[in-house]
Amino acid sequence: MRLTPNQLEAFDREGYLFFPGLFSPEETKTLIDAVPELYARREAYNVREKGSEAVRTNFAAHMYSEPFAKLARHPRMIQPVEDLLGEKLYMHQFKINGKMAFEGDVWQWHQDYGTWLNDDMMPTERAMNVAIFLDDVNEFNGPLMFIPGSHKRGVIDAKHDLTTTSYPLWTVDNGLISQLVDRAGGKSGGMVSPQGPAGSMILFHSCLVHASSSNLSPWNRVSVYLSLCAVSNYIRRHKRPEYIAHRDFKPIECLPDDCLLKDYAVDMPWENGMPASALQTSLDPIRAEVAV
Ligand code: SIN
Ligand code: MN
Repeated sequence: MRLTPNQLEAFDREGYLFFPGLFSPEETKTLIDAVPELYARREAYNVREKGSEAVRTNFAAHMYSEPFAKLARHPRMIQPVEDLLGEKLYMHQFKINGKMAFEGDVWQWHQDYGTWLNDDMMPTERAMNVAIFLDDVNEFNGPLMFIPGSHKRGVIDAKHDLTTTSYPLWTVDNGLISQLVDRAGGKSGGMVSPQGPAGSMILFHSCLVHASSSNLSPWNRVSVYLSLCAVSNYIRRHKRPEYIAHRDFKPIECLPDDCLLKDYAVDMPWENGMPASALQTSLDPIRAEVAV
């Protein structure tokens, strides 16, 4: 899938593009059906909500689950991001966020690049987020909220919030959020919230400021988030475990467009368990062996 000049222009202006219903119900079913068994695993890569058994986020499923390994190579996601970044991509992070009915907690206001810079030493913001809805997303089940155009501010000062939720995040101060929303149009367009059926996709800039509220509805809001990084922009530090910030900088090669519905061989290096090395971390800057 390639982007039109109008879409490229809208992305530059707003910092995101929304594709409602991009994946069919049959395609989406292959993914959502695999989630309960993944969430039931007692593994470090399943982070649960504070004080609850509900999974907040599952990391790295593309390394050990076939449907997600195929999704990670899907041309409907990879090609438009290659167009936007003008380069081959590697998978920096892969997560399946639960935001489960009644239990899904907030994601505070943040930019993803803030975390990638501060924790992973990613040199520039040449990385992109892709969200794929595995459940219908509506105004009740904690949809993502964006401040359109906020990516134009570049990297914003953030503080490391280790207490609000079960997952540490570099978050943006409320005073600055108010200013950004005002400048983006206040009550007339200063915040947007793409909503749509399971199978919808959002591409959003790594500096776009975003958040989501808790899910008090009776409907799960499971979504997959891929963070795709330009190969030349690989991370320079392994402060976080490998299942959170990946260390394989090889370019992603796409499968055919029908890959979710047909059999294709895919590499799943952690199919029989995660290696101990994936848990090792270091504060030292690294030199990667990467050909770019
Ligand atoms: C994120 O920003 O990484 C996740 C937000 C959400 O799942 O609502
Ligand atoms: Mn985020």
